[in-house]
Amino acid sequence: MENPLDPINHPLDGLIRDHDLVRKLAAAYRGTTDKEVKKQAGKQIVQAIHNHSRAEENIFYPRVRHIDAPMVRHFEQLHLEVDDLVATLQGMALDDAHADHLLNQLIDKVLHHIAQEEKEFFPKLEQAGLDLAPLGLELAAFDANLVHLQAAQSAGLGSTLR
Ligand SMILES: [Fe+2]
Ligand SMILES: [Fe+2]
Repeated sequence: MENPLDPINHPLDGLIRDHDLVRKLAAAYRGTTDKEVKKQAGKQIVQAIHNHSRAEENIFYPRVRHIDAPMVRHFEQLHLEVDDLVATLQGMALDDAHADHLLNQLIDKVLHHIAQEEKEFFPKLEQAGLDLAPLGLELAAFDANLVHLQAAQSAGLGSTLR
């Protein structure tokens, strides 16, 4: 990596790193026939997509809607479908053919969507020449809070996150 990571001044890089994690986990999921590895990768994909979607839906999309409202609306529609699949998969054991079918559906939708964000939307946002640091700060705070809540939840202290 040439530059130190600076997700506050470059929030799009932070989002792309989330996307890279999803791509990596998807490749791991599809690249193995080992049931246990598949199950772990599947769980991590669902969690990574869940967290990334929360940040985009709550912070990112509302702050950048004015750049291209129809495109952001299209993304939000896709997120609804993805959120449904994520919720279903969160309630499953991820160890049968039905879960595998749903996970593959989720991966296909999400890979297409993140490519569209990166190729069609992020360049528009960069060209708009906005100061993205406030957005970076908000995203960083949101992520930190989400991680904190999830830690509390897994320690049995939290209630629900959605
Ligand atoms: Fe998205
Ligand atoms: Fe995204």
